[in-house]
Amino acid sequence: MKEIFNGVFKEGNRIYTINKVPGKRVYNEKLFKKGGVEYRSWNPYRSKMAGAILKGLKKFPIKRDTKILYLGVASGTTASHFSDIATDGIIYGVEVAFKPMKNFVKLCQERKNMLPILADASKPESYDAIVEDIDFIYQDIAQKNQVEIFLKNMEKFDAKEGMIMVKARSIDISMPPNKVFDMVKRELKKYFEIKEAIKLAPYAKDHIAIYVS
Ligand SMILES: C[S@@+](CC[C@H](N)C(=O)[O-])C[C@H]1O[C@@H](n2cnc3c(N)ncnc32)[C@H](O)[C@@H]1O
Repeated sequence: MKEIFNGVFKEGNRIYTINKVPGKRVYNEKLFKKGGVEYRSWNPYRSKMAGAILKGLKKFPIKRDTKILYLGVASGTTASHFSDIATDGIIYGVEVAFKPMKNFVKLCQERKNMLPILADASKPESYDAIVEDIDFIYQDIAQKNQVEIFLKNMEKFDAKEGMIMVKARSIDISMPPNKVFDMVKRELKKYFEIKEAIKLAPYAKDHIAIYVS
């Protein structure tokens, strides 16, 4: 087991985080113990960040004390791994749909470094009173206006770094995904430096992870 980033471990072609709540699974992932530590398998087909890591992400944005604003947190599959890593930080999870949010609220009860926010991420002014001192914004929202949502939140919370998981087909179903990716990069470059851009196939088809600062 090799620690490839702070709190992220690799063995063979699988990655793991250390389970913050030993004995508990979040999405039926594999658990296993080694040297008295319980690891949780991080599935790249269920989590785009895991896909980005396995596709060669060079610098990992999350440290032990990182404060994260997560837009489109759903039931918390990916956020639960962030919670394993940022043990002294906080993850504010924004989700607009009630059903996944219900599961995420339950998860937050056992993972005290996560906080649920039922809100529309295109209206950051509706949650800016709750969210403080963000280091990193992670967004995974399959909507036509996903880039606009990301830009609004980056500006509102003055985040140093952000990562957007772009779904080409949600932006324009008729345009080839690579053209959509170029268009999004051009838009982001007006405001940020693009540190890394990683296509997520085969883990997530027609998606690209764009990491900016
Ligand atoms: C692909 S899923 C997220 C999966 C999750 N990021 C994970 O890896 O565990 C996208 C989520 O974004 C949510 N969403 C869509 N539009 C949104 C908006 N405007 N504000 C907040 N959440 C939104 C959807 O309800 C859905 O749960």
